[in-house]
Amino acid sequence: MELADVADDITEVLLTQEQIHAKIAELARRIEKDYAGENVLLVAVLKGAVMVMADLARELKMHVEIDFMSVSSYGMSTESSGVVRILKDLDADLTGRHVIIVEDIIDSGLTLAWLRANLESRGPASLQILALLRKPAAAKVDVDVRYFGFDIPNAFVVGYGLDYAEKYRNLRGVAVLAPHVYE
Ligand code: PRP
Repeated sequence: MELADVADDITEVLLTQEQIHAKIAELARRIEKDYAGENVLLVAVLKGAVMVMADLARELKMHVEIDFMSVSSYGMSTESSGVVRILKDLDADLTGRHVIIVEDIIDSGLTLAWLRANLESRGPASLQILALLRKPAAAKVDVDVRYFGFDIPNAFVVGYGLDYAEKYRNLRGVAVLAPHVYE
């Protein structure tokens, strides 16, 4: 879906498909250098990170394995509480693996902080984080991100994996949702 297809539902385009793909290509080149000759496992948490995972994995000019987790935050649904329950765990054993967590967005940072600690405890050889978007104004905890895309304003954003009520994930770009959609 193009941003133009939902023009009435958005107030501002933050990132176009072209900008996103250029950034993912840049990050992929760094990963290729940093992990030359290594066997890398990309790990993403469903569902938001699916688009980044699909584009990053295809952009990389090296073999990578991909794996997915599904988690659910306890507490109120609109804000993550940092207390997470695993709904579907990874298939892969992380012992001795070079793992990169692939995330769409860092909002409070609580999901990633939990995820990093959880995956670290499984004994990977290395563990780094790639995050396409970050809302610095919403951060509650600092997360060390090796591969980072864009800072965005603390607004209600949708697209490229980010949803409102499960819609807009399939937008090619990232945009600010118009208040009339959710008010
Ligand atoms: C989003 C996003 C991150 C998390 C970031 O997932 O994909 O995983 O929120 O928020 P935080 O930094 O405040 O923890 P969400 O829980 O909305 O699920 P979804 O990916 O299925 O949309």
